Amino acid sequence: MDEQRVAAFYDAIGSGYDRSLYFLACDPLYQAEITRLTAGRRFRRILDLGCGTGKQTILLAPCAAEVWAVDISAESLRQAEARCARAGIRNVRFLQQSIVALPAEDGSVDAIFSYGDVISHIHDASRQVFAESARVLAPGGRMAFEVDGKWELDMLLHNPEERAQARAARGVGHLRVWRDIPCKTFTQPELRGILGDVGLHVVRVRGANIFHCLLPENILFGLPADVGPAWRFASVLLQQVDKAVGTLSGFYRLASTRLVTAVKG
Ligand SMILES: C[S@@+](CC[C@H](N)C(=O)[O-])C[C@H]1O[C@@H](n2cnc3c(N)ncnc32)[C@H](O)[C@@H]1O
Repeated sequence: MDEQRVAAFYDAIGSGYDRSLYFLACDPLYQAEITRLTAGRRFRRILDLGCGTGKQTILLAPCAAEVWAVDISAESLRQAEARCARAGIRNVRFLQQSIVALPAEDGSVDAIFSYGDVISHIHDASRQVFAESARVLAPGGRMAFEVDGKWELDMLLHNPEERAQARAARGVGHLRVWRDIPCKTFTQPELRGILGDVGLHVVRVRGANIFHCLLPENILFGLPADVGPAWRFASVLLQQVDKAVGTLSGFYRLASTRLVTAVKG
């Protein structure tokens, strides 16, 4: 597994990635999904798998008696802890470990969130993550997560080399390389099959970064303050288009990543 490489990458990058246009475009989608899944409910325990710098942890903490924020990167956890402390949040347990094995009892978790492409990083053990998540979830519990889509529009239009690799991986996702880190992509039937095998059933899918991903790479991963007003405007416009079409299957299949909600049982 590439766990140590991934941990070293996120230790080094710190919070450098999570304020770029690409990741900022995801935040309102995460927030909307979290609000939809938690509205009017009080949970006993929520897991935030691959919590990173804690952007979702602070949204989840008010919804549960306790949140376990798990990440393999010490620096990411330090930042998540600092973010929670600044927000006056005290019901989060921070765990530095891989999410391939979860330290929770069977059926003891009400909901699991794993946003920000965490599971795609675990390209050779993603089945194990889903199996572990299904094990710890209570019956009727929900798992909301994000994975890379195979037929990303930007890749189809601009990356013939990766397109050939994607075609060669018939019926399943291929490996996409992001900043030297391999990420597992998934087709929708492949994902449904893996989830079905462990007793999780997909109830909702939304695409993130569909047309927004067509911005030039240096703009997409640039900070808003650095890219200038014209690119900021283009980013807002494309995000609105993505928001409007993101739940339609013809479009979410072309997204860079998919936000998926699955239910146990
Ligand atoms: C793109 S970041 C997303 C962080 C956060 N959820 C967000 O959306 O801001 C991916 C995170 O997954 C973590 N990660 C990757 N592989 C992991 C593993 N096997 N176990 C636990 N965390 C992992 C990384 O350390 C990193 O913090």
